Order: sequence, then C-alpha cells, then structure tokens
Amino acid sequence: MLTLGIETSCDETAAAVLRDRTVLSNIVSSQVKLHEKYGGVVPELASREHLRNILPVVRQALDHAAIGLGDLDLIAVTHAPGLIGALLVGVSVAKALAYSRGIPFIGVHHGEGHILAAHLEYPDLGHPYVALLASGGHTALYLVRDFGGYRLLGQTRDDAAGEAFDKAAKLLGLPYPGGPVIDLLARQGDPRAIAFPRGVREGLDFSFSGLKTAVRNHVALFRSKDAGLDPSLKIADVAASFQAAVVDTLVEKTLLAARETGVRSVVVAGGVAANSGLRRELEQACRKNGIRLVLPGMQFCIDNAAMIALAGHLRYQRGERSGLDLNPRPSLAL
Ligand code: KG4
Ligand code: ZN
Repeated sequence: MLTLGIETSCDETAAAVLRDRTVLSNIVSSQVKLHEKYGGVVPELASREHLRNILPVVRQALDHAAIGLGDLDLIAVTHAPGLIGALLVGVSVAKALAYSRGIPFIGVHHGEGHILAAHLEYPDLGHPYVALLASGGHTALYLVRDFGGYRLLGQTRDDAAGEAFDKAAKLLGLPYPGGPVIDLLARQGDPRAIAFPRGVREGLDFSFSGLKTAVRNHVALFRSKDAGLDPSLKIADVAASFQAAVVDTLVEKTLLAARETGVRSVVVAGGVAANSGLRRELEQACRKNGIRLVLPGMQFCIDNAAMIALAGHLRYQRGERSGLDLNPRPSLAL
C-alpha cells in the first residue's frame, strides 16, 4: 500500500511516500532562513511559503519514490495542531489530490506522528512504552499502550521545551531556532555555573516559563541601555546551565513516568530529541535503570511527513478515513 504523507503545520513543508511502513522518500523544505530575521515563525509568511513549496515538494517525494500520483492508495495529512493558515495549505492540497484521484485521505494529529516516528526505524518496537514528546509546540509524556492508545501522563503548563530553547537564545542575542545553537554553545560552558530553576518539582507536569524568566533576569544583570550586553557575560555558561535545567527536568520526569507506569521502554520524539545533552543523559539514566531507550534519527525527530504517512496508514488499516468536510484545527488534544 502506497501512502503519501503531507506536513505543513509550522515552518517545514514536507512530503513523504511510504510503501506499507517502509519509507520510500522523505522530503523536507525548511523555512528557517525566511523566519530567522524575525526571531521566530511569522504565520502569514509561513502560509505563503507553504503555498509556493507544497506542490514541488510533493512532486519531489513522488519522484524519489519512483512512483506517480496514479500509484497512490492513500493520502495522510497533518490537520492539527499548528498554525491555521499553514495547516490549511496541506489539508487543501491533500483533499484536492485525493478527490481528483478518487482515493481516500485521512487527517493526522501532528503529535501522534511524532510519537509514531520511532516505528519507522524500529519495526520491532512493541508496546507499551512511555513517549516523551518535546518540540517547539509540545512537551508532554504519554503512555502508549497500542497504536492509537495514548494516555496523557503529564504536559507543560506553559512553554514547550523547544520554545524555551528558542526564547533563551533570543535573550542571549543568538539566532533562531535556538535549540541547535544553545546545544553547540553549551559544550563550551559550565552547566553548574548558574543554578537555574527546575520548574514543577512534583508529578509529571512541566513548566519552563520560570526558567525563561530566570535567564532574562540573569542576562539583565549584564545589560546596559547604551552599551548593550557586557562582554563579561559568559554566554556559554548561561547556555550550558540553561540546557542542564531543561535536560534534568526532561530526564527526571521521563524516568518517573516509566517507574509510575511500570513500563520498560522509552521513546523520545520531537525536535528537542536532537539535543546532544538530552540524548547523553537519557542514555545514561535508562542504562542505569534497565530501560530500553529508542531515539529516532534526526530526520525523523524534526518535523517530517514520513511520520504523518505512517500514522495515517495505521489509522486507515483500522478502518478510519476523513471526509472532505475535515477542517484544520490550531489546537487539539491527542
Ligand atoms: O519538532 P520540531 O521540528 O517542530 C515542532 O513541532 O515544534 O521542533 C522544533 C524545536 C525548536 O524549538 C528547536 O529549537 C528545537 O526543536 N531543537 C532543539 C535542537 N534542535 C532543534 N532543541 C534543543 N537542542 C537541539 N539540538
Ligand atoms: Zn513537530
């Protein structure tokens, strides 16, 4: 069965083709360069860029998979959550292609796509497992009992982890997106230099807004009106200490979730799963506690359409499909 996946929820235009659960092509066109100068994603610009890119990206995905539109059996598209104008582009294209070819299409929750991405590279990954989803838009822990069986264990009460990276970077005068830049800088800094807060102590919920305020207050000590940032501010130390605070929280809560549910496997998903500190600390903690850790490769951690195609394929196999009345939704619980 050949599935075309389409993803346009934020600032990546993506299309992928799967033969059953095998990835034949996975094309991602990033808009990072376009939004960089604004220090974050500008929704209207994102929609227009998706419009420009979506058909060439779909074409490329089909070409790389060496198939034509007429070979497709199913189209899966992210319909929620995300930027409404951005989602609308993907959903409209999916509907139009499916209708014109007379094939079914199915709307997919972006978060479900992220969680299921691990199954693309680890076909033997069974259930249950605990999934940590940490990206620019979401930070949550789920108990995954089965395909489609997600129990929310905890989530952020304010900012997402990736959003915290992006905001901290902005405060330090670093470019967008902040995650990869802070990750690199942190390697040269001392993670114990500044004692940043760890957010919610109890339970499985997260909070990153206090940490962001603490970074802002620390940086303010080194900022003067006319001279800007004082060179005595050790940016690498701030980056390392900030990253340590985020990583500690994510690792601690993920292990607590595994302990509380009695589950022995952990899957990490979303853009923040690319963080080298998080990967290292999680590997250590899971090894120490006898827990299997599944870390998808980078191309499946960041936003991509292969994960959307897989989620759509699995839902279709269970008898689900969407109607032409499917509308994109900016927010939707998984
Ligand atoms: O999953 P993703 O590509 O898009 C969303 O669904 O949000 O995640 C993007 C987020 C951004 O906030 C970015 O700063 C963060 O993931 N990110 C990282 C790293 N690479 C990307 N955060 C920390 N360390 C990284 N190496
Ligand atoms: Zn995402």
